[in-house]
Amino acid sequence: MAEAVKEYDVLIIGSGAAGLTAALTLAESRRVLVLAKGELTSGSTAWAQGGIAAVLDAGDTFEDHIRDTMVAGAGLNDLATVEFVIEGAPAAIDRLFELGVPFNRDGDDLHLTREGGHSHRRIVHVHDATGWAVQAALLKAAEENPNITLLPHRSCIDLITGRHEDKYSGSGRVWGAYALNEETGKVESHVARATILAAGGAGRVYQFSTAPRGATGDGIAMAWRAGARVSNMEMMQFHPTCLYNLEVKNFLITEAVRGEGGHLLHPVTGHRIMQDYDPERMELAPRDVVARAIDDQIKRFGLDYVHLDISHQSPEFVTRHFPTIHEKLLGLGIDMTTGPIPVVPAQHYTCGGVVIGLDARTDLPGLWAAGECTESGLHGANRLASNSLLECFVFGEAAAQDILASWEELPAPPSIREWDESRVTDSDEEVVIKQNWTEIRRMMWNYVGIVRTTKRLERAKHRIDLLASEIEDYYGHFRVTTDLIELRNLHQCAELIVRSALKRHESRGLHYTLDYPETDEAATDTVLVP
Ligand code: FAD
Ligand code: SIN
Repeated sequence: MAEAVKEYDVLIIGSGAAGLTAALTLAESRRVLVLAKGELTSGSTAWAQGGIAAVLDAGDTFEDHIRDTMVAGAGLNDLATVEFVIEGAPAAIDRLFELGVPFNRDGDDLHLTREGGHSHRRIVHVHDATGWAVQAALLKAAEENPNITLLPHRSCIDLITGRHEDKYSGSGRVWGAYALNEETGKVESHVARATILAAGGAGRVYQFSTAPRGATGDGIAMAWRAGARVSNMEMMQFHPTCLYNLEVKNFLITEAVRGEGGHLLHPVTGHRIMQDYDPERMELAPRDVVARAIDDQIKRFGLDYVHLDISHQSPEFVTRHFPTIHEKLLGLGIDMTTGPIPVVPAQHYTCGGVVIGLDARTDLPGLWAAGECTESGLHGANRLASNSLLECFVFGEAAAQDILASWEELPAPPSIREWDESRVTDSDEEVVIKQNWTEIRRMMWNYVGIVRTTKRLERAKHRIDLLASEIEDYYGHFRVTTDLIELRNLHQCAELIVRSALKRHESRGLHYTLDYPETDEAATDTVLVP
């Protein structure tokens, strides 16, 4: 049995930076429901370390930030989007200030740190735990707002579309989502005039990722199944410096460590490795360059990791800038004030996603999207550090404003069919989920990683195709669980990534293939149409 239909004006899937930004603006006049898988703080937002890029210093300019973004994105970015987001940054930071985010100061000014690919210091931050401060401030404001209902532990399964209407209207609209209540095990129908997808990235499709457990690309997969285009899914960002530790597998060491002077060293010889790859920009080259350099060193010398060393700075400097990382590492027996940190690259950010316009509209009427689940044109072939929280604020706000402006034109939802569980039973083989999940993630890491070849991509495609019927068969016969929902989405995203990678016959930004090492003159998006 499905739970009773619940109706709000706007449904938001995701309680990270994008979802809550949209919710707070919409709640000025509309009733908003925000759903989150697991806890309300389970998305990537709470994990962000480095900060938020914004032109706030007198010596910096929008033009420079735009240029840095386009250089990192290898020209695949959409200039209008880049301008829209970067020029929207100061207002976004002001709003966060008003919400009480305690950004670090340097006397009367904000303290600005530096990260790879940025030609200026322009990252506002709260020590090395910016995301937690932002998430907490947004959540507090949302909890205090009587027009916002926050429901954690709701795992959305699929968008509600025309085919779920009692009487099919042919409108092709999205009317909300079916969600598994993770506490009761029942499937609920959440119906609304407007739906915003803010469900984050697909990082967990890879074996090693800095992203939290729930980053399984649910938003991208749901939108794709409902009929929306996705773009540039091959552009998966690998962060150069994830902690190498046998116990803790996904702890990020912020790029700001390099921004504040950290060196990348060969762990045996102590050689500063970036000298051999990008002697001009060294450790502050864009992420794709640094991640490939480390990957090359690890493979060439048979290493497990390389060293990131900032111990030449004073202990006071290190602990003042990086209190969270310092403490976490001390707990693992590593003192970054006196010695190096072992690091490896790991998946970090999904640059591709659901295609949206400047108004955050997707292809589907009734569906808007914002944040890491989207491809807005901002990041192109590689995201510039600390541009993604910014994108969440700007597009979360854009989605809200567009919904408010078009409210009178949005039709009221029709009667929707409840979730049908009459033909499924409880699973008796949970091992299938674990096996497939592990297989996909390992295969993506080995065959669709930092350096690619057509042969490896084809192998991956073959495996993914084989798994498709097994997963769909399982999904068709057994009652949904969050693990099953995630496996289905993870598999869908893996397929989209590999298909996109096979379509790109060049190396550009994050997509580096030995079979097509050159970059084409014209930059073209990889757009997949359902
Ligand atoms: P998220 O914050 O990931 O939130 C996703 C939401 O969707 C969650 O509430 C989740 O529960 C919900 N959800 C997912 N699936 C479902 C479902 N099926 N049903 C219901 N709800 C669902 N970016 C920067 O700009 N600066 C940084 O310093 C920075 N540091 C980072 C450090 C780390 C370790 C990581 C992993 C990322 C970092 N990023 C940084 C990237 C940035 O944090 C993310 O891109 C951004 O927070 C994404 O926000 P979002 O709102 O799109 O999604
Ligand atoms: C970091 O702190 O290195 C992450 C910044 C980002 O992903 O933008």
